[in-house]
Amino acid sequence: MNPLAQHLNEQIRANNPHVVEMLSPFGRRLFFPKGILSQSAEAKEKAFRFNATIGIALEKGEAMHLACIQDMLKGLRPDDVFPYAPAAGKPALRDKWREKQLAESPSLQDKQIGRPIATNALTHGLTLVGDLFVEEGDTVLLPDKFWGNYRLILEVRKQARIVTYPFYSASGGFDVQGLEKGIEEQATGGKKLIVLLNFPNNPTGYSITCEEAEAICRVLIEAARKGARLVVVLDEAYYGLFYADNLFRESLLGMLANQDERLLVVKLDGATKEEFVWGFRVGFLTFGLGGQGDLGAVYEALEKKTMGAIRGSISNSPHLSQTLVLKALESSEFRSQQAEKFALLEARARKVMQVLENPKYAEAWTVYPFNAGYFMCLAIKGVEGETLRKHLLDAYGVGLIATGGNDVRVAFSCIEEEDVEELFELIYRGVMDLKS
Ligand SMILES: Cc1ncc(COP(=O)(O)O)c(C=O)c1O
Repeated sequence: MNPLAQHLNEQIRANNPHVVEMLSPFGRRLFFPKGILSQSAEAKEKAFRFNATIGIALEKGEAMHLACIQDMLKGLRPDDVFPYAPAAGKPALRDKWREKQLAESPSLQDKQIGRPIATNALTHGLTLVGDLFVEEGDTVLLPDKFWGNYRLILEVRKQARIVTYPFYSASGGFDVQGLEKGIEEQATGGKKLIVLLNFPNNPTGYSITCEEAEAICRVLIEAARKGARLVVVLDEAYYGLFYADNLFRESLLGMLANQDERLLVVKLDGATKEEFVWGFRVGFLTFGLGGQGDLGAVYEALEKKTMGAIRGSISNSPHLSQTLVLKALESSEFRSQQAEKFALLEARARKVMQVLENPKYAEAWTVYPFNAGYFMCLAIKGVEGETLRKHLLDAYGVGLIATGGNDVRVAFSCIEEEDVEELFELIYRGVMDLKS
């Protein structure tokens, strides 16, 4: 093993030995090399005469560039666009995102958490979690409704075993007891368990209430105190898109960080869905841990390992997008413009709720409870989701996602409010065609 990796592992072990046990073999081998990047960082500070270190090109004291590209980027400095961004992301953006996290989740303010590390959006954050913590045969505990890409990232790439518990309880809320039972069954004998939570959820469009949030945290903290080693991954891709009053509006990281030495939280969030910049690929990974050791030292070592995983795969995330997101966060109009788009999505969600009250729909489907995000799901009565999906495309030109069994997912985020009624009417007609 590289001495730098050994050193990081020792740094972690000295302050929280459980985290070393949570790392995958690859995670243990990871380090951030003292190669070109650290030599050029040193040169940036000291090479006042000539800096001939990094693999970009300079001209007249700034990044060399083509005018035909720079002309499209009016208002941006070439140095904020063309050079590589650091492996962990643009420092100013990382700090601005942290500021945003603290403002949105006041419970984080008195917590010691890691500095957000920029990722190539949330999918990449999940891949990094896989690199660092997941090895063949590890169990990932998920509710039975989850974003399908988790399978590729964790099952196919990392050969993890996905175990599920029911998403909904009998009363239509989140099944906290199912989660508790899943942890009890899967984290026996102090075994490492990866618990992945995604609120607001894809595909259901359900986000937890304050009571459910407290119950979830109680379950996780108690399980860690009883000896389970938990890597809790919070996929908060749709953060902020809440459409009901009683919902928990903070990150679960606030209640989970600094609670137990066996409880490591990885918060994944980003600009993708919240700021409507899907193709930008700007996300963040933030660690939160507990225990008596020097948490700062553990975060530093985990950050270096994460940077190593980034450097050895995509090298770094796009600089242009990071600059654009940073400028947006700095803009005085950011919050008001975001609120405007939120209002549009909320109006669509409320329209869907209202349209679905039509009693005739009861013969065609049941509606899964939803209150947040981009989506909602229907359980179609007596017709397979895939059969309905194909029929709606062929007969009515309507596209939905079949998510398995009789379920279909509707992205109301893509449907104008005035079209919502017609959309569900066509889905209804499609179901009736197939039933008759
Ligand atoms: C729950 C969930 N997590 C993560 C992602 C991926 O987001 P990104 O585009 O930032 O990689 C998605 C995208 O659909 C998602 O639905």
